[in-house]
Amino acid sequence: MNCQTDCQTERQTPKRVLLIVFSGTRNTLLVAEMFSEHFRKMNIPADIFDITGTETKPPLDGYDVIGLGYPIYAFNTPLFFLRYVKKLALRDKKVFIFKTSGEPTFFNKASSFSLIKILKNCAVLGDYHFLMPYNIIFRFPDNLIKQMYQYAVKYSGLAAANIINGSVSFVKYNLFHWFVSFIFKIQRLGFLNGKFYGVKKEKCTKCLICLRGCPAGNITLRRDVLHFGFKCQMCMRCSFFCPADAMIIGFLQLWKVNGPFRFKQLAADESLDGKFINEHTRGLYRVFIPYFKSLDQLFALRIPGEGIQEQFHKPVPV
Ligand SMILES: Cc1cc2nc3c(=O)[nH]c(=O)nc-3n(C[C@H](O)[C@H](O)[C@H](O)COP(=O)(O)O)c2cc1C
Repeated sequence: MNCQTDCQTERQTPKRVLLIVFSGTRNTLLVAEMFSEHFRKMNIPADIFDITGTETKPPLDGYDVIGLGYPIYAFNTPLFFLRYVKKLALRDKKVFIFKTSGEPTFFNKASSFSLIKILKNCAVLGDYHFLMPYNIIFRFPDNLIKQMYQYAVKYSGLAAANIINGSVSFVKYNLFHWFVSFIFKIQRLGFLNGKFYGVKKEKCTKCLICLRGCPAGNITLRRDVLHFGFKCQMCMRCSFFCPADAMIIGFLQLWKVNGPFRFKQLAADESLDGKFINEHTRGLYRVFIPYFKSLDQLFALRIPGEGIQEQFHKPVPV
């Protein structure tokens, strides 16, 4: 079957969806859970297979749509995830991609370039980009985290509906994307940086959450001392979830973000309006305006009267 053409015209409702996810600090996993919930509401079971820390392949039989979820690392698909998907050798499957990143810059759009090449024998139904908070560089304000979460809930609903209806939402890749994807393969330095990882002895309580959670098995305990090897994937899980904020993360130390995001609590917090980015936003955060604006337009178009506050849309004067 020539998937790129044939699958897109087949409009059979999927019977079962499998969401295969890599997620260092759980943002992408949360988006997978959103997808799963939306599919479930459409009476389509959607299982999540979290590849973190496993070499095991998921059983693919019985799934007619596969979702592949990853966090963007330096404008690319994480190497760990690329290698994993390559080993799955997906053929003649309907596949969609969902990815999360901290900002919406043009470069991030190129991130699926290598992944799409691996999926050449499949029908790629979409490449959906979700903004979720940075787990590196700096921590976003709670109100922006709430806004990202609320938009992700809604956008995943639209994406799930698109996938079920067989409509294709796709980024076209060109040489420029290849170039961006190539020069920013910073993750290849991860193995080196991992060696500069360590813990602040006065803070570390030896709870071993880092050791147990490391998806690459890069952390070991020998003679009561934590050791870090050459297999670091730079996913930030160890430093992000360290309850004592004791991790030292090599040359990324100044960019460390510690402590989980409390998405659901923030969503329920009425003191936050979830409109951190709006038409009056200035400075650094201005780059976010087009992303939220385009989603507002999409929501208003697809779910009349149900756009999230439709904060970028002023009523047309009569
Ligand atoms: C090593 C590394 C590189 C990153 N590179 C980018 C990037 O190029 N662009 C971006 O917007 N966010 C970048 N981020 C932020 C993550 O993509 C973002 O926080 C994502 O939602 C994390 O997902 P996770 O919680 O599923 O791991 C990077 C994070 C890490 C750890």
